[in-house]
Amino acid sequence: MESRRYLTFALCKGRLAKQTLALLETLGITCEEMKDPNSRKLIFVNEEQKLRFFLAKGPDVPTYVEYGAADVGVVGKDTILEEQRKVHEVLDLGFGKCRMCVCGPDTARECLKNHELIRVATKYPGIAKDYFYNTRRQTVEIIKLNGSIELAPIVGLAEVIVDIVETGSTLKENGLTILEEVCPLSARMIVNPVSMRLEGERIRCLLTALRKNLQEGQS
Ligand code: PRP
Repeated sequence: MESRRYLTFALCKGRLAKQTLALLETLGITCEEMKDPNSRKLIFVNEEQKLRFFLAKGPDVPTYVEYGAADVGVVGKDTILEEQRKVHEVLDLGFGKCRMCVCGPDTARECLKNHELIRVATKYPGIAKDYFYNTRRQTVEIIKLNGSIELAPIVGLAEVIVDIVETGSTLKENGLTILEEVCPLSARMIVNPVSMRLEGERIRCLLTALRKNLQEGQS
């Protein structure tokens, strides 16, 4: 009887995890235990396939993968860029598509044009800093917030925000607009560099099957 070690997946809690599990299920990778909505368990095992899954807060997923507590992770590109962990990004899963943007009232366009020393509110200080300092070469004050970022320009905390835009409805309902696009985002698969070597064959097999599935979905 073969004694394979478990391949552990860290999934980002919420919609991304549900979409990831649905995608894995199309490949015959299942985890029935995880479907029980009343369960308080944190880790779920598929004994037959020697797989383990756990759910974590988005920003923690790259941390688990960097330290090898998970071999594989699925998380948004925004989190990967912000966290800067030592992980291999191996696949764009094509869902969770949205954009990182600089947004604000229309009147803030001038502040950007003139490279004024403005305040930028964001949940992503790393991404905002990189964009303003390295891409735009504009000195700004970055203010870290933890949510409802659109509030900041409305109540006068900041001139602009750097935030995720998906449908654009939050911006619209709050009288804000996209001023500049920073980068496109989507869900990505990340792998621990050591796992990539130790479990290379299993991971490559999984990636090949996922790529095939994603290509078939596109055509
Ligand atoms: C995200 C993001 C925007 C909103 C964009 O917030 O920060 O506020 O979604 O989506 P839309 O373009 O479709 O309106 P989230 O709902 O994750 O909550 P948060 O404000 O607590 O970050």
